[in-house]
Amino acid sequence: MTFEEFGEFIGSQEGAAPKAVPPGTPPPSAIIGAALPRIDGPLKTTGTARYAADYNFPGLVYAVPVRASVASGKITSIDSSTAERMPGVLLVMHHGNIMPLYRNASGGRNSEARPAFEDETVAYWGQYVAAVVAETFEQAQAAAAAVRVNYAPASFNVSPVLSDTLPPEGQPGGPQVLSHRGDTDAAFASAAVQVDEVYVTPAETHNPMEMHATVAVWDGKKYTLYETSQGVMNHRTVLAQVLGEPKENVEVVSRFIGSGFGGKLFPWPHSAIAAAASRKLNRPVKLTLSRKMMFSNSGHRPRTQQRMRLGATADGKLVSLQQDYRNHTSFGDDIRENCGEATPFLYSTANLKVTSALVRRNVGTPTPMRGPGAVPGLFALESAMDELAIKLKMDPVQLRISLDTLTDEEKNKPFSSRHLKECLEVGAERFGWSKRTPEVGSMRKGDLILGWGVAAASWGANRGLCEASLSLQSDGTARLSCGTQDIGTGTYTVIAQMVSDKTGIPVDKISVVLGSSSLPPGPTSGGSTATSTIIPAVIDAANAATKVVLTVASNTKGSPFKGTDPASLGFTSGRVHAKDQPASSGVPYSEILKTANLASANGDGKSGGLGADPKARGYSTHSFGAQFVEVEWDPGIAKLRVSRVVSVVDGGRILNMRTARNQMEGAIVMGVGMGLFEETIYDQRNGHAINDNFADYIVPTIADVPQIDVHFLDIPDFVINEYGARGIGEIGMAGVAPAITAAVYHATGIRVRKVPVRIEDLLGPKSSDA
Ligand code: MOS
Repeated sequence: MTFEEFGEFIGSQEGAAPKAVPPGTPPPSAIIGAALPRIDGPLKTTGTARYAADYNFPGLVYAVPVRASVASGKITSIDSSTAERMPGVLLVMHHGNIMPLYRNASGGRNSEARPAFEDETVAYWGQYVAAVVAETFEQAQAAAAAVRVNYAPASFNVSPVLSDTLPPEGQPGGPQVLSHRGDTDAAFASAAVQVDEVYVTPAETHNPMEMHATVAVWDGKKYTLYETSQGVMNHRTVLAQVLGEPKENVEVVSRFIGSGFGGKLFPWPHSAIAAAASRKLNRPVKLTLSRKMMFSNSGHRPRTQQRMRLGATADGKLVSLQQDYRNHTSFGDDIRENCGEATPFLYSTANLKVTSALVRRNVGTPTPMRGPGAVPGLFALESAMDELAIKLKMDPVQLRISLDTLTDEEKNKPFSSRHLKECLEVGAERFGWSKRTPEVGSMRKGDLILGWGVAAASWGANRGLCEASLSLQSDGTARLSCGTQDIGTGTYTVIAQMVSDKTGIPVDKISVVLGSSSLPPGPTSGGSTATSTIIPAVIDAANAATKVVLTVASNTKGSPFKGTDPASLGFTSGRVHAKDQPASSGVPYSEILKTANLASANGDGKSGGLGADPKARGYSTHSFGAQFVEVEWDPGIAKLRVSRVVSVVDGGRILNMRTARNQMEGAIVMGVGMGLFEETIYDQRNGHAINDNFADYIVPTIADVPQIDVHFLDIPDFVINEYGARGIGEIGMAGVAPAITAAVYHATGIRVRKVPVRIEDLLGPKSSDA
C-alpha cells in the first residue's frame, strides 16, 4: 500500500475533528521528551513478555503448511494418504476440504486478496497448498513433507529486469501519471545540464526478530487469535470477514511484538489456516512460520526500476524533474510501490512528472516495508541529485539547500513545518562536511580511501482515528487502555509519558494496556502514524477523567472541596487543589475517590483523522531529514565498510529521546542493509526465493554497524497534534542508501545505481556495467 493509500485508509476517515490547541496552552512537562527507558523493558529482558508463539493451552496441536514447489500452474491432485497414517496426525487441510474462507471487502486491509486454499491455482513458489495438523510440531513437520502434491506447471516469470513491454502511458496496464506540472519534455530537452539514468532497488524481505505466528483458539462460538500483528483492530476486522463471523466473535491479541517493519501490517493467510484448523478440530492450534517461509509467504519490499531525468541550468536551478518507475507485483494483487511519494515536493521545480507502472512476476504479494515507496524512490531521486551536483560542480549539500522550498509545489500548500535546510546545515556541521574535498579518492586515512556522501529524506505525516480510556484508580495508580500495539518501538512508554504529563501521576504508577482488539479501537502501528494518532485520544481521555475527579471533589460529602465550583479546581501532580493555590495545598485524587467510595474515575477520549481536520487541510504535512555517510574503501583487499553516519531528523517534537534515538539507529542499520547487503533473489529455474535464510540473505551484523550520531531538531508541529509530534518510524531510513552510494562514488569514482553495492561493482568500471 502506498503512503497515500495508507493515508486514505487511516487519515481520511470521518471522525470527530480534534480540538484545536487553545492559545496559551502551557508547554508539556519535562516527562515529554525525557529519555525514559522502556516501561516494558524488564518484561522483555526477563523473558516474562509473551509473544504470539509463546501462548500454550491444554490440548494445543501444531499446524505446518505444505508449500507449492512450482511458481505457476494448477494443482492436479493432492495425495495425503501417507501423511494421514503418520503418528500424531489429526488433519490434512487443503482446498478440497477446508471450511469456507471468504475474501475480504470489509474496509479492513488484507495482505493477499485470495484466502488460503481458495482453489487449485498456484501463482508463486512457496504458496500454501495444504497444511498438516498433528499432536507435536515434529509430527506435523514430518507429515507435511509426506504430502504429495501434483501440479500441471505453467510458464512463469521471476525476472529481476522489469523492462517488459507495456501498453502506452495512461492505457490500462501502462504507466499511470501520478503527478504532473509544466512541460518536462521541453524543459529537459533545453536544459544546460542533464542527468538521465536508471536506478534499481532490490526485492527485500522483512526479517523482524520475531517471525510470524498464530495461536488460534476456537471455543465453540468465538475465535481468539494470538498474533504478531502491527494492527490488532484491522486484523480482527479482516479475519471476521475471512472466517465469515461477526466481529464480536473474533478477538486478536498481540501484547508484545518482536518488530515487523511493515510485514505484519496486514493479515497473511496463515492466520486463517490456523483458525480454520482450530475450528475443525476443536483444539487450540499453533502455526509458526519458519524463517524460510518468511521469504515467500509474508511479503517483501518489491523490486523497483526507476528512470530519473533531471534538467538544470548551469547555475543549478532545477528546471525539470521526471521519474518513470516500475515495481514488480504478484499476479493476484496490484501493489503499487509509491516511489514518487516525495518527488513532487522535495525540491523546487516548475516542470515535474511522475509515472508508475506495475510489472507482474510470480512472487508472493509485496507489502509495505519501512518507508514504502519513499525509501526506494528517494534512492533514485537522491542518487540523481548527487549526480547532478557533480555535473554542476556544486556541493551536494548546497545544491539541495538552494532548491529548498517551504511550499508544497504540487498541492500549492505551505508545509505545516519543514526544516530540511536546517537538517542539512546541522548535519554538515556535526559531520564535519566543510573538510570534504570533492575530488574522487582525495580523502585518505592511512591505506584507506574515505568517501563522504549525503542524501535528504522525507516521509509523510498523518493521523488517524483512535479511542482510548483512562482510569484514575483509588489506589493512586492509573490505567490507560487502547486497541493499538507496541511493535517494539516504545508505544507503551510514550503513552505512559503522555498520561503522566497530563495528570502528574508518576510513570511507575501508570499501567498501559495495549494489544487486544477488545480494547477501545486504536490505530495500526504503521506509516509512522501511531504516536501522532494516539496523542489526541490520550489527552482527551486524561482531561475527561480528571474532570470527573474534580466534579466528585466538588459534590462529595467529606471532600475538602465540597460545594466548590469544579471549574475553580485544578488537577496537578496527581492532586486536586484550588486553581489559585499550589498543588501542594490540595489532596491526592485517590483520597477524593476513596471518600466518595469510587473505585476509579474514568474518561474516554477520541482522536479524529487529519483528513477530517479543517485546520490541517491548508497544509502539507511531512517529516524531513538528512543523512551523512562516511565509507572506508580499502582498494588493496576490496573491502568496503560504512564507518560513520550522522542523521538529522525533523520529525516534530520528540516524546522520548531514548526510544526515538533507538528508532533512528535501527533505521540506519537497515539502511546499511539496503545499501550493501540485502536482496531477495528468485531462482530463475523455479521461482524459489533461493537465499531464504540468514546464511545467504545478508543483513548487517554488529560488525557492519557504523559509528552513529543521531540528532533531532525537535521542532513541534502543532498542525498534527497538541504535542507537535509527527511520528518517526520511517524517516530515518530514506537517505541512508543513496548517501552510501554517493560516498562510494566519492571514494572510488564508481557510480553504483543498483543496490546493494557489490564488491564486483567496485573492481573496475567495466565490471560495474556488466
Ligand atoms: Mo511501516 S512499512 O508502515 O510498518
